[in-house]
Amino acid sequence: MKTAPEYFSVESIGAADLGFISVAEFPSNIPFEVKRVYWTYYTPNNVQRGGHAHYDLEQLIFAVSGKITFITEDRQGNKETFILEEPNKGLFIPKMVWRDIQFSHNAVLLCLASLEYDEADYIREYDIFKQHCK
Ligand code: TYD
Repeated sequence: MKTAPEYFSVESIGAADLGFISVAEFPSNIPFEVKRVYWTYYTPNNVQRGGHAHYDLEQLIFAVSGKITFITEDRQGNKETFILEEPNKGLFIPKMVWRDIQFSHNAVLLCLASLEYDEADYIREYDIFKQHCK
């Protein structure tokens, strides 16, 4: 089981003169069945979002437009920065990863999620996240 986030690219099908399509399909090219899809947009670029981890949720995230920067910390305490700015280059986030997120104003974040929305799955206090990592 993966415990660290990692880039997750899907194929970019097409050509510059025609345009492109990318596909996420379980099980052929993504690692979990998608229960929920959400997208965020118009986030001002001076705002930091995220600020949480999840007990069980796995996510595949794409910047279908714009640039999105993730600063992550996994349960081993490894901190990393991931930059998404190509529509076919995503980020796989396993369970128990703290993330802070910054957006360019034109960014559209698309999230494929392994579970339905459940506020009880969120850890919104960094200290509590660190306690669970021990
Ligand atoms: P949150 O996940 O905290 O967003 P971010 O990490 O981008 O800051 O969600 C923001 C709000 O949206 C929060 O009040 C919960 C709500 N929400 C839902 O109702 N359903 C969902 O599937 C998601 C992702 C969020």
